[in-house]
Amino acid sequence: MIRAELTVLADEVVTCAGSGGPKNKDQASDIGLIKDGAIVIVDGAITAVGTRTEILKKWGGDRLELPGTSVIPGLIDPHCHPLWAGDRKHEFALRAKGASYEEIHAAGGGIAHTVEATRRASDEELLSKTKAIVEYMVAHGTTTLEAKSGYGLSLQEEIRQLELLSKVRDQSPIDMVLTCLGAHAIPPEFEKDRAGFLSMVTTELLPTVKERGLASFADVFCERGAFTCQESEQVLSAAKDLGLGLRIHAEEFSNLGGSRMAGQLGAASCDHLQHIHHDDFESLREGGTIPTVIPGTSFFLDLDVYAPARELWDAGLPVALGTDYNAGSCLLPSMQMAMSLAVLKMKMTPEEAITAATLNAAHALGLGERVGSLEPGKRADMVVLNSSDWRDCIYQFGGNAVRAVVKNGVLLNTILRSPLGAPL
Ligand code: NIG
Ligand code: FE
Repeated sequence: MIRAELTVLADEVVTCAGSGGPKNKDQASDIGLIKDGAIVIVDGAITAVGTRTEILKKWGGDRLELPGTSVIPGLIDPHCHPLWAGDRKHEFALRAKGASYEEIHAAGGGIAHTVEATRRASDEELLSKTKAIVEYMVAHGTTTLEAKSGYGLSLQEEIRQLELLSKVRDQSPIDMVLTCLGAHAIPPEFEKDRAGFLSMVTTELLPTVKERGLASFADVFCERGAFTCQESEQVLSAAKDLGLGLRIHAEEFSNLGGSRMAGQLGAASCDHLQHIHHDDFESLREGGTIPTVIPGTSFFLDLDVYAPARELWDAGLPVALGTDYNAGSCLLPSMQMAMSLAVLKMKMTPEEAITAATLNAAHALGLGERVGSLEPGKRADMVVLNSSDWRDCIYQFGGNAVRAVVKNGVLLNTILRSPLGAPL
């Protein structure tokens, strides 16, 4: 008998394992469901997964019995803007009266409003606010999080935001992958000098970020009212030359060709995609670029158009899912709710939704070898649900089906108590 550090036993284990890469539609239909499942953890990593009977025959050591639960891989949010000050409640109200996100942005509100508030905020304020929201996300099952800068829009302020995000990462139990979104919008002081702003981003900001290891990805908002496709390409090409990974906000409100360009540059992910054309799919496939869809944004902005996730899956592409948590276009911190919306509004199957929120999201962050599924060799990142049916984390619309979160084999104690059951 081999001695394990810990063997977790649950009514059900969902592994999402199996393909060695991100999963397409056919592969995603098999989520690796094990009834009466068990997971063996040694040194924070998964050593074995199987049925209770198989595992207990081979492994001894401590056991954590979790009756009444289903264990799924830790949720991975590959698109998030968690660091900002102020709020945009007034825009929320304006939209209810018929104003659109783009109209508010064009009138000088939107991103510019948050930039002003964030620039004014102290390090302490930003740190405590961001730490609190990350903790809330963890309590809702997120164990790996992508976090973008993008409300600084100057060399100094973008660096400050990435430094603060690094501090949040250092103080957080979960993995955080940082992205420099210096090209989020043209700030007021550069309104008449777009070329000057782009030059600052490409020749000062991104090289500094790379040199100081402040982020692993660069991102750009390729959109009417933000950056043209050519400008976006300038930013991403510079990032690529520096050896940074690439992500892009593309085809969110219009189609400027960002997804084709992202595929051609071999971006890791291409995000939003409400207005992607079928003809653009091939470029993503060729570039190995993962389409990351964000139903929360269409929902929060009350847009009729959702990204064509169904068509992307049906075309054989591996789709990832994110929250886009930010003050303006989507104040959604929960990947569970993102999955619910993906099923309700994009017609993903629950199996596709959980694959998009775990394994495929991990690959969209370049972390597919390390996290995203429960299989030997990967980190022991798991969510224990307060139900013995995994589908409750999607079906319990707007709620929180999480009983406990385990990161690197450690049970985190930041969990909200389940209203239904006793704490673990
Ligand atoms: O992903 N599109 C650009 N960025 C965000 C919105 C940020 C904001 O409005 O503050 C988004 O939707
Ligand atoms: Fe975004």
